[in-house]
Amino acid sequence: MVRYTGNIFLVGLMGAGKTTVGRALAKKLNKLFIDSDHEIEARTGVSIPLIFEIEGEESFRQRETEVIRDLSGRRGIVLATGGGAVMRPENREYLKSRGTVIYLRASIHNILQRTSRDKNRPLLQTADPRRRLEELSRQREPYYRDVADIVIDTGRPNVQFLVHSILSQLELLPNQLPDELEQEQESQAGATSQASTSVPISSNFPMNQSSTFPVPAPTITLQVELGERSYPIEIGPSLLTDRERIARLITGKQVAVVTNTTVAPLYLQGFSQALKDAGKSVLEIVLPDGEEEKNWASLMQIFDCLLSAKCDRKTTLIALGGGVIGDLTGFAASAYMRGVPFVQIPTTLLAQVDSSVGGKTGINHPLGKNMIGAFYQPQAVIADTMTLHTLPERELSAGLAEVIKYGAVIDAAFFKWIEDNIDALMARDNVALAYAIRRSCELKADVVRQDEREGGLRAILNFGHTFGHAIESGLGYGKWLHGEAVGCGMVMAADLSHRLGHIGAIDKERVCALVRAAGLPTEAPNLGAQRWLELMQIDKKNEDGQIKFILMKPLGGHLITTAPQDALLATIQQLASGDMPR
Ligand code: NAD
Ligand code: GLY
Repeated sequence: MVRYTGNIFLVGLMGAGKTTVGRALAKKLNKLFIDSDHEIEARTGVSIPLIFEIEGEESFRQRETEVIRDLSGRRGIVLATGGGAVMRPENREYLKSRGTVIYLRASIHNILQRTSRDKNRPLLQTADPRRRLEELSRQREPYYRDVADIVIDTGRPNVQFLVHSILSQLELLPNQLPDELEQEQESQAGATSQASTSVPISSNFPMNQSSTFPVPAPTITLQVELGERSYPIEIGPSLLTDRERIARLITGKQVAVVTNTTVAPLYLQGFSQALKDAGKSVLEIVLPDGEEEKNWASLMQIFDCLLSAKCDRKTTLIALGGGVIGDLTGFAASAYMRGVPFVQIPTTLLAQVDSSVGGKTGINHPLGKNMIGAFYQPQAVIADTMTLHTLPERELSAGLAEVIKYGAVIDAAFFKWIEDNIDALMARDNVALAYAIRRSCELKADVVRQDEREGGLRAILNFGHTFGHAIESGLGYGKWLHGEAVGCGMVMAADLSHRLGHIGAIDKERVCALVRAAGLPTEAPNLGAQRWLELMQIDKKNEDGQIKFILMKPLGGHLITTAPQDALLATIQQLASGDMPR
């Protein structure tokens, strides 16, 4: 467990950017910046190369340990340490026990570029600096990782971007939120953020999972600003069984929890108990699981249960599950007695980053995906990130498709962050997942705030969906997961964007590579060109029989447009020729 003393220690190879980033970070946090090499030079009155020359490396290391011991004992500093500092166990102990350690990781290629003319690096004064760097990196990497609370890739040259990434991640560490960050967050329009210092893991949580969970991150609160229909999104671990939160966010005495046969055995008992502890009377409605169940029959089953239990118009409907349960329950809430309160408790990554936010609800029709529905905003979204640890791998990947979507058409820096952190996301690293959820929700909330009922802008959230929905309804609902179809659809949309000259070949390839790295398909099923066109013609975005596409222009930007038939057919021929059963 790390303690927040207000100190931040930067570690990493020479040339990784510790001084530049450290200085900018200290300025932002109003802390004192110190570079340990500069401190050694100030204390000895000679340069580092000269200390190496006169006294040798061992003596330098001893001086470095003394400096780290003295400086890390202070409070409220940002300290850039020398590249080799982590090799001594006593240095690692000082750093680990006296502050938050950030490992700035850079590629050998970048370091060589940055240090090629720097004569102040004694360890690089060899005939083959690349080889030397590779050796140093091999030796030191395990120690950097061992001490680090946060790892930041510094491939991107923009210092402000790196500082922003560090601040976002600092905020997610338990007990780490500096006062300055809290103030900064509070002053941000439309978004507030809080650290909760103790996050109990309830005994109602599946025990086999909770015992192996990593340290929980704090809870984040965002706000979807829609005037009198505004609502909070709370994101954090173990929220499902947090009775006080539930009592605060779910109003009314009578609630009906709608879930399915997969989620119920995992979470329903613990959640219902927390609701009862919060003084609610609880009706449980358990539906069959599957995209193919997002239909009229399931909707009727909800109404049957509500009416049989004599639920009145003050009953709050709660969706506990993925996007299917969320869409169905929201639609039921919009229609039951002409509208009852509704709360989203998303338990899949896809639902936490997308479907639970923004108020689109509905069911599928055999002829078209999501064709029957309503805009109906929830009163609150409560995303318990611990539930992601029971998600099957395929479902995790499906959720990542929607995360990539935001980067691809709204935020190029976020796209780059996903590229840099895709392994951590796939490994369900809590901090990476929490950041991905938070950033996705921020981006979505901002779009929804501007265009709640999809008069224009909101359509960009359908990037990849024109192709994706065709795959889903063309193959039959449930054959490919929604996120898989969207992932592949984004590759097709990137291809079309490239054909029409809106993005370059490299950016098209970046989309494809990231979708692949997220474990998603990049080749679509061969439905036949004619069938593809027919399926894409049934889409809510279309106008006057014209198929509308969301394209990238450029990466991180968007364009809503029609496409010439020859380019569209070329994309289909190129990418939809496979026989791809999932
Ligand atoms: P889903 O709801 O089918 O859930 C995926 C699977 O995971 C299901 O089998 C479910 O039972 C299971 N599951 C859920 N939580 C779990 C957990 N914590 N542990 C283990 N298993 C768990 O699918 P989804 O990907 O969440 O959502 C896809 C649906 O969302 C589609 O119907 C899509 O159209 C819709 N959607 C809606 C919006 C919107 O704005 N309303 C946006 C995107 C997608
Ligand atoms: N998932 C698309 C939207 O909410 O608009």
